[in-house]
Amino acid sequence: MVRVAELSLLFACFGALASSDTDLDTLVQEQIKGQPKKDGSCTAACPYGWVKFDNRCFTYFASPLDWYSAEIYCVNLGANLASMHNENEYQMVKSLIRAHDPDENPAWIGLSACQKKFGWVWSDGTRFDFTRWNSNEPNYSHNGECCVNINWAYSVPEKRWNDNPCEETFPFVCVKRLN
Ligand code: BGC
Ligand code: CA
Repeated sequence: MVRVAELSLLFACFGALASSDTDLDTLVQEQIKGQPKKDGSCTAACPYGWVKFDNRCFTYFASPLDWYSAEIYCVNLGANLASMHNENEYQMVKSLIRAHDPDENPAWIGLSACQKKFGWVWSDGTRFDFTRWNSNEPNYSHNGECCVNINWAYSVPEKRWNDNPCEETFPFVCVKRLN
């Protein structure tokens, strides 16, 4: 028999209705501190310290790893490196990184094209339907860089996406579906 105390571990009551940067920063900060705002609706919860958004859970790891090791790290948590599919998800991921790293340094996301030049695939298997490249990226430099950072700002101050050599090490963002 499932007791009330166990049910409360499986479900939490909060909403994820945010659009402005400030709203997103608040939503992210409340959740990484484990204090989700209650709005009366009861839905499946993300693990402690993960941020619920669009029925998925996102988290950031500050310890730098190469792209493949970062993906495996996420997989071992039942997740993948993060995919994103619209401006709100993109801004939420930026907000999540900002909450841990106010300087917004680059981080790995789950996009790569190492099987085919510019054949972009998300490691979580979702559709490639959204991009936020920096100007002049992806440029396949270094004889074929094929893994993607968010918050790239070394050549231009845009802090969007850059293809980069997969063996370089960066913090990273994982995502897992809720259900
Ligand atoms: C380039 C990027 C490249 C990076 C590699 C930068 O100067 O603009 O395209 O990925 O160097 O370190
Ligand atoms: Ca590049």
